[in-house]
Amino acid sequence: MMEKSIYFAGGCFWGTQHFFTQVNGVKSAVCGYANGHKDNPSYEEVYTDTTGFAETVHVCYNPARVSLETLTELFFCIIDPLSLNRQGHDEGTRYRTGIYYTDAEDQPILQNVYAREEAKVGVPFVVELEPLQNFFPAEERHQDYLDKNPDGYCHLPLKTFRYVKLYQDTQLILADEPDPIARMAEMAALIQERMDFFWTGFYRVVADELVLGPFQGPSACLRIGYGKGVCGSAWKQNRTLVVPDVEEFPGHIACSSLSQSEIVVPVRKNGSIIAVLDIDSKELATFDATDALWLEKMVTIL
Ligand code: SME
Repeated sequence: MMEKSIYFAGGCFWGTQHFFTQVNGVKSAVCGYANGHKDNPSYEEVYTDTTGFAETVHVCYNPARVSLETLTELFFCIIDPLSLNRQGHDEGTRYRTGIYYTDAEDQPILQNVYAREEAKVGVPFVVELEPLQNFFPAEERHQDYLDKNPDGYCHLPLKTFRYVKLYQDTQLILADEPDPIARMAEMAALIQERMDFFWTGFYRVVADELVLGPFQGPSACLRIGYGKGVCGSAWKQNRTLVVPDVEEFPGHIACSSLSQSEIVVPVRKNGSIIAVLDIDSKELATFDATDALWLEKMVTIL
């Protein structure tokens, strides 16, 4: 069976490794040090930030199951591509971000994804895209660190790991289903059961209103006008709305008094909004940029 390699430097390698082990088609993900100036560096040497190495994960994958493009897109979901030598709390050149390839034919594919992601943000990225010069696996204690230490430090929000599974499973489950209502229904159920939210559902654009679509949770209001409530506002403003406290949102429509925070993500088809994904939580401030990123990715499956 064919096997390919790519190397991702995404800040602290504990989190990056754990992330890629969740990706379907990845055969192995190994923590190590890439593109430095000496042989067999130790963690302590790399930590001094004088060896040129970046904490890097060697991802070995089956290209029949996952493409380099998909892996790279997923990589961009877990880094801040504008942050130079810093990811989360970790700072230093060893925490720089980079994509290092060993096959020159991979370069244009990587460059393509890079340019697409950069265009979305509209600001030049500081992520390196270079040939791999060298790579040395890290010490055993750094391998599968988060499996060995489930409460250990991770610079990535832990919900990232649940979202990447949810995203891939949803893609697989919906792969052969053409009916849009069935797709929304299944997606609502998957999100609700995997993420433990209070209410997850869709409102579809029908003429000049949002009309209740497939959902999971308590009964909800049937119709929402353009610009009304959080849902109608997300539609009107044509963007995701994260509401940490629904009481603070002018015009919020309370379908249940138990809902305390909310996120609404537009669903687009050929650029126009055809529905919104609405999720409610019984806790305050449940949703943040991580939820927005992954839920926006989720609705592209529809
Ligand atoms: N709170 C929403 C209405 C829908 S329910 O949350 C299910 C809003 O303000 O648009």
